Amino acid sequence: MRRRAPLGVFDSGLGGLTVVRALREVLPGEDIVYLGDTARVPYGTKGAATVVKYALACSRHLVARDVKALVVACNTVSAVAPERMRVELDLPVLGVIEPGARAAVAATRSGRIGVLATAGTIASGAYPRAVAQVSTRAEVVGQAAPLLVPLAEEGWTEGEVPRLAARRYVEPLARATVDVVVLGCTHYPLLRPVIEAEVRALIGPEAAVVDSAHAMASDVRAFLEERDLVRDGTGGVRLLVTDVPRTFREVAGRFLGDVVEDVEQVDL
Ligand code: DGL
Repeated sequence: MRRRAPLGVFDSGLGGLTVVRALREVLPGEDIVYLGDTARVPYGTKGAATVVKYALACSRHLVARDVKALVVACNTVSAVAPERMRVELDLPVLGVIEPGARAAVAATRSGRIGVLATAGTIASGAYPRAVAQVSTRAEVVGQAAPLLVPLAEEGWTEGEVPRLAARRYVEPLARATVDVVVLGCTHYPLLRPVIEAEVRALIGPEAAVVDSAHAMASDVRAFLEERDLVRDGTGGVRLLVTDVPRTFREVAGRFLGDVVEDVEQVDL
């Protein structure tokens, strides 16, 4: 019975649709209910207590829609809120930090891992903690990259401006001699080509870029398979937002990689 229930995916805004895109590739039969808190985005610049409060309100709404598990696509929420969410909500909560950290540890040879993320995620120390759980040898160098979120939202993903912004954020990681760079934010996969080009130029052709959206999608599939909860057939995506921004369709389509048909506004 639970197998037919939808999967809840939560993000601070529309960037989490990059995780939905990755989930649809590996779990095409799942029905997904996505909630983007577009009224209150960005979370990455806010304090942890505020992020936890917003995250609880949004996830309670998804629980009321009878989801079988909650996937937290937002790195900032995954960095500060999953423990509280697990205590307060009676269902599995899957965060994006651990899969990203594991993929980074698997990819590094030197043991020096760079993380690009929001200021909130970097300040939380969640990535160094998650990496320490899987490796006693690996070290994390965090770099907040706040300008990359609005660039991705604007669809400004090519050319001089994103290239210079990416360079500015990759430079300290290159100085710290990392050999892996984690895209620790829902929005960064959209800028992957420019970030990757800077990583190759400044760190070296062997350096790896790890996308936490794909790492997370494989983890969600493993979680559902272990519990015999994978839904067969053809799934769909239902989009819920707390505000409908003017450029909603365009921005959402860009993140999802597909046309966005239906959207429902919810009041939280
Ligand atoms: N979803 C956020 C994250 O992955 C980025 C956008 C925001 O700051 O709310 O950290």
